[in-house]
Amino acid sequence: MNSRLRSAMLKGKRAGLEMVDTAKPKRKRSHTAVKDEETTNASSPSTYHTFHDPADVVLLRSQLLNWYDKEKRELPWRTLAVTESDLNIRTYAVWVSEIMLQQTQVATVINYYIKWMKRWPTVQDLAAATLEEVNQMWAGLGYYSRGKRLHEGAQKVVSELKGQMPRTVDSLLKQLPGVGRYTAAAVGSIALGQVTGAVDGNVIRVLCRLRAIGADSTGPAVTEALWSIANTLVDPERPGDFNQAMMELGARVCTPKGPLCSQCPVHSHCHSFRKVHVKQEKNSRKLLGKVDKKPSTLPDIEDCINSGTCLLCPSEPWDDELGVQNFPRKPAKKPPRVERTLTCVVIRPGEEGEDEYLLTQRPNKGLLAGLWEFPNLLLEEKSSEMKRKKALCAQISGTLGTHLTESLFQYVGEVVHIFSHIHQTYVVHSVCLKDTDAQTQTENAQWLTRSALQEAAVSTGVKKIVKLCDSVDSQKEQTSKDGKRQKQTGTKNDKKPQTSKKQKSATSSGSRQLSLSSFFNTIKQES
Ligand code: ADE
Repeated sequence: MNSRLRSAMLKGKRAGLEMVDTAKPKRKRSHTAVKDEETTNASSPSTYHTFHDPADVVLLRSQLLNWYDKEKRELPWRTLAVTESDLNIRTYAVWVSEIMLQQTQVATVINYYIKWMKRWPTVQDLAAATLEEVNQMWAGLGYYSRGKRLHEGAQKVVSELKGQMPRTVDSLLKQLPGVGRYTAAAVGSIALGQVTGAVDGNVIRVLCRLRAIGADSTGPAVTEALWSIANTLVDPERPGDFNQAMMELGARVCTPKGPLCSQCPVHSHCHSFRKVHVKQEKNSRKLLGKVDKKPSTLPDIEDCINSGTCLLCPSEPWDDELGVQNFPRKPAKKPPRVERTLTCVVIRPGEEGEDEYLLTQRPNKGLLAGLWEFPNLLLEEKSSEMKRKKALCAQISGTLGTHLTESLFQYVGEVVHIFSHIHQTYVVHSVCLKDTDAQTQTENAQWLTRSALQEAAVSTGVKKIVKLCDSVDSQKEQTSKDGKRQKQTGTKNDKKPQTSKKQKSATSSGSRQLSLSSFFNTIKQES
């Protein structure tokens, strides 16, 4: 053994490498050991797909952490994880951030997180809130069951755990609803310094590329292999920073499309990167008409020796055009369910001279649980416009305990909203009631002013519908103004006077007070 390797191994031991894979029995190293390591079976992938050299691990850790220390984004939860000395608050703060970051981009989460932590700085504060307040705060962030679970978890911590947040990865996993393997590992390492890898979507991509893992990345063999690699790599001195550095690398350098390999601090460890370069070199030699007798200047790739039977190797051949994007591979997504929903915006004049809107609450379970929305029903595709108005009219008459006539209902337009698994089209109608006293008859219905609607727990779909209504309103206003102007001047074909953008937005808010859509300008995908 050379001295560099011995010293790296010693360093590796000190750095905690020996704690990895403790479940596996240790075998004495014999002259056949290397061969043994290279064979593949379901539980032990070939060394091609793992990090078996402690020196490599030590080097990769320091390269990644040096990069992270220079390049990391200052994010509010990162600041809190460093500055907050109270372990309970720190764990709560990181837990909130990790739940918000599930399926939502960092840039979107930042403002929600700051607002949340200002309002509920401790787990006790969150436990004392109502679900309605939580839903209100979550409005627009999508995947609403996350907020509900955080709230349930906080109530559990207060009522069953004496207000103490769990202190280990295992107890986070067991005690907190909505906390799975990744979230427990992320919170445990970032807030509590627990030495564990954490594998989220970004980390899956980084590791699959580093180790050329091209089998279905959602399957059990790859999942277990990735957790094992992550546990091997994690820096025992700085587990939270290491895990966040892996995520950061995936989010900013090792991106799904257009990865920036030349800026990658760990590209020297990357099998995919090397594969691209070896192929490029071979191709350019071929183009120059050089016969491949002379060995390439780049070392040839040692592919997985078991690629025929390996559970981590891709089943499809390498595609030169994709480069490192050959990894990871996922099975094709199921196409989303297509749904059309008949929706009605019901407006009445409010007491203060402000229009009010009828909203009904969704059931407490399932999609958009507990959120407020405009009255709606599933659309029967082949129904006529008459039949649709009739159905809406009957439903809203029931909610208001009054008898409306179908002729009041007007078609407004369609709004498309994509959930993760549903392609939803809202077929929007509206009805303007003259009666200030139109009362709601059921508990799950209420009238809201525009400003109350802005604050309410409504989904992005509702916001889009409001936007559509506003734009139709302003078009109508513009048309009627043009008509009046034409009457006054007595000419039909006069050119319209040009309005500046500023004037336009002022007129579009027009007599209907402030434009509803001006309240709602963040439209995102949600579920
Ligand atoms: N995604 C999940 N957790 C994250 C974190 N702590 N920082 C940045 N992105 C993340």
